Amino acid sequence: MENKFIIPHKGRINKADRQRLMGHKSVILWFTGLSGSGKSTLAHAVEEKLFSMGIHTYVLDGDNIRTGLNKDLGFSEEDRKENIRRIGEVAKLFVDAGLIVLTAFISPYRRDRDFVRNLVEEGEFIEVYVKCPLEVCEQRDVKGLYKKARQGIIKNFTGIDDPYEEPLSPEITVETDKESVEESVDKIISYLIKRGIIKDGN
Ligand code: ADX
Repeated sequence: MENKFIIPHKGRINKADRQRLMGHKSVILWFTGLSGSGKSTLAHAVEEKLFSMGIHTYVLDGDNIRTGLNKDLGFSEEDRKENIRRIGEVAKLFVDAGLIVLTAFISPYRRDRDFVRNLVEEGEFIEVYVKCPLEVCEQRDVKGLYKKARQGIIKNFTGIDDPYEEPLSPEITVETDKESVEESVDKIISYLIKRGIIKDGN
């Protein structure tokens, strides 16, 4: 709801100032893909690499956020939309704070991901498609949830009886059934260097 009596305050320190202090740019690395595709593993592996390079980072992860900020939300289309909207707003704050924020959410709907893309400035949203065939995710079944979804114990499970809309033009695609974690991490780090978001010797 819009309220014309809310007048945002603009501080004297801005995003560019904070980025200068950090020594690198701030962006959202938005990992999207099926449950079990490797989003969290990769987000944390990329974070470790960035951390070792002296870069300020933070990971927002579906299963963690859903036990706190978003614990009132389920998995209907509306709730997933609200989940992603809130994460988008939080991620935007992290970008404003000067950090590289890595998010690991299935985020199955294109329009929800595009909503976040449009929340931030051009180039600040980097979509990383963590591509992995459903059969492989189901075989991995790290959390045992695919089995429960097949048994009908969990309803609306992404890939089983709920949709996943593949990104049409993600900035980066990693194929976790073909590449090692290190290869995927290198791909993402190289992209950040090429784009001038971080420096090689950061
Ligand atoms: S999203 O669709 O709203 O982006 P999110 O990434 O936050 O999903 O949460 C997905 C995680 O919740 C999965 O990794 C899985 O552990 C758990 N989960 C529980 N129920 C479902 C469901 N119906 N569909 C997908 N994931 C589910």
